[in-house]
Amino acid sequence: MTTALVTGCAGFIGSHLTQRLLQEGYTIIGIDGFTPNYDARLKWRNLSLIGQHPRFLFHAAPLQTGDWEQWLQETDIVFHQAALPGVRASWGNAFADYAANNLVATQQLLDACRRYPRIQKIVIASSSSVYGTMQEGLTDERAPLLPLSPYGVTKAAMEQLCRAYVNAYGLPIVLLRYFTVYGPRQRPDMAFHRFFRQLLRDEELQVYGDGHQTRDFTYVSDAVEANLLAARLGEAGDIYNIGGNREVSVLEAIEQMAALAGRKPRIAFLPEQAGDARRTCADIRHAGEKLGYDPQVSLEEGLRLQLDDMIEQERG
Ligand code: NAD
Ligand code: UGA
Repeated sequence: MTTALVTGCAGFIGSHLTQRLLQEGYTIIGIDGFTPNYDARLKWRNLSLIGQHPRFLFHAAPLQTGDWEQWLQETDIVFHQAALPGVRASWGNAFADYAANNLVATQQLLDACRRYPRIQKIVIASSSSVYGTMQEGLTDERAPLLPLSPYGVTKAAMEQLCRAYVNAYGLPIVLLRYFTVYGPRQRPDMAFHRFFRQLLRDEELQVYGDGHQTRDFTYVSDAVEANLLAARLGEAGDIYNIGGNREVSVLEAIEQMAALAGRKPRIAFLPEQAGDARRTCADIRHAGEKLGYDPQVSLEEGLRLQLDDMIEQERG
């Protein structure tokens, strides 16, 4: 029986990952500190959707309190999802919390992992935001790291920290650079969550900039699958882009969302936000060749599933 530590297990991606790992027969030690980046009730809802499970041991604690003996002694695989996410909110006084949760907390986790040689793999969530705005064509993992936001800077620094731990101590770390993940339980600050909520409430959709910025939107179950593949096949020190294999503009996505919801969108164009990339588009060939990563969920299907979840949330 394999035991995995999942950090950030009450969050959007972490809760889906936990659910899937339980289905696969893992025993899960789940950690979440309920950082106040959004309403804790949504995180409790995520946990309730995982459900009571005899193989799920949950600890409501920030990583910084580090009860490592209890969390790592029997752990075979670490899936590190905990972080303070969100590009646009990371300016100003918020930066100290970004540095604490994304960099310092990760360093504490990695340092603790050194003491537990039983750990076979440490899969860590990084982000497309380490690249900044992408040039023409697809961006592969060798592209320079030119983050545009303080959040992206913390993720890029975290990657460097991981490299130092791989080099110095041989920690079996694998990094996944997710590209804008969506689906049920998406964080309420993210575009699709906000747009669906605004559509369902018949409110104006608030688009930052001209709406022609593009993202390589990735459905959450594809990101989760990438974690399982990385745990099995990822090479220590390697980095993989995890994208959805499509580039779609914000306005194109809104058109599809409105059609699915059966609503006519009213759009308010607001100023472009500091730190936002103009386009993201992942070259996922490396993940395909090394891990067998092959995203399965079409944008239409993924949006439909997210809409169902949003309707349920709106009903309360
Ligand atoms: P989320 O906020 O829903 O989940 C993160 C969870 O981690 C939260 O429940 C939070 O309470 C917890 N947490 C944060 N800091 C912690 C700490 N120090 N100790 C314990 N728990 C802590 O965010 P998400 O969208 O699910 O993101 C998961 C990971 O994926 C993050 O590392 C994020 O940077 C990365 N990522 C997300 C996306 C995306 O599109 N959602 C894209 C790229 C990268
Ligand atoms: C997302 C996550 O929030 C980050 O944590 C993650 O690191 C990043 O993906 C990544 O890929 O690395 P982002 O691309 O900004 O960041 O995701 P969304 O919040 O879904 O925004 C997508 C686009 O829609 C952005 O251009 C944003 O400006 C725009 N948007 C967002 C709006 O026009 N209106 C909104 O109300 C929200």
